[in-house]
Amino acid sequence: MTIQWFPGHMTKARRQIQEKLKLIDAVIELIDARLPLSSRNPMIDEILQNKPRLIIMNKADLADPEVTRQWQAYFKEQGLTAFPVDAYTGTGVKDIPNQIKLLLKEKIDKQISKGMNPRAMRVLIVGIPNVGKSTLINRLAGRNIAATGDRPGVTKGQQWIKVTGGEMELLDTPGILWPKFEDQNVGYRLAVTGAIKEEILNVEDIAFFAIKYFTNYYWETMSERFDLKERPTDLDNPDEIVAVMEAIGRKRGCIVSGGRVDLEKASSIFLRELRAGKLGRYSMESPY
Ligand code: G4P
Repeated sequence: MTIQWFPGHMTKARRQIQEKLKLIDAVIELIDARLPLSSRNPMIDEILQNKPRLIIMNKADLADPEVTRQWQAYFKEQGLTAFPVDAYTGTGVKDIPNQIKLLLKEKIDKQISKGMNPRAMRVLIVGIPNVGKSTLINRLAGRNIAATGDRPGVTKGQQWIKVTGGEMELLDTPGILWPKFEDQNVGYRLAVTGAIKEEILNVEDIAFFAIKYFTNYYWETMSERFDLKERPTDLDNPDEIVAVMEAIGRKRGCIVSGGRVDLEKASSIFLRELRAGKLGRYSMESPY
């Protein structure tokens, strides 16, 4: 489900998260490993104030592993702990409680030194729609708790979900954040990965954006899959990118009367194959 974010929605989402911050010890900020900047909320630091925070780069199974490593180093330079996870299969998920414990070490040590029994670490997951919040909650809980899909504005009693051994508890409703909107390229990157629905942007424009990016960074994979012969020499020349789109369309039989290529159909097919992982693992932005 794609949420239309209006200023009123944003204010409400922000207020809801800030209410929940009072209840928790740490935040898991979930981002998409393929687009760690575009899938972050532009006001995240302001919203989370100084809550201890762990960044989880989800869908790492789909991202370029080398680029993901670069992102991890990038966040480390900024004093943030970030690591890759595949919430769908669970890879990396079991490390999360330990990482939260490290984050809260000082607080826990203080409780112990006062002779207190440290209570369960209380955690809230936040992230933009479709980033995998419900999948991660279900994975951490070991059962189906959170319904996938987002419903901003639906209020229900909050519940704590126990995670492995009871050391950590999660709020059952994640905090939903809006993505960046100011930059058109951000919209395209989100659309390429399927984080926002195609109807918002033109499918040919999304495919054009993706094909230009793949020509630059993943030409070999793309040319092999679609049997492409000529690599564009000037990426700033739209005709050369359209020529690649046409070649992809011809390969997939998207021909209309007069032998023209149906670019809309070619674009849909390209994006479907890309999202189904047929073009291998890729990242849409890199830190350096
Ligand atoms: P949200 O709560 O943040 O909105 O996201 P949600 O968990 O609903 O996940 C959105 C989509 O992303 C789901 O796919 C989910 O299966 C997929 N997903 C979540 N984490 C991962 C991951 O680490 N790797 C991969 N490859 N996919 C992930 P869907 O097509 O909407 O639903 P379904 O096919 O799972 O039924």
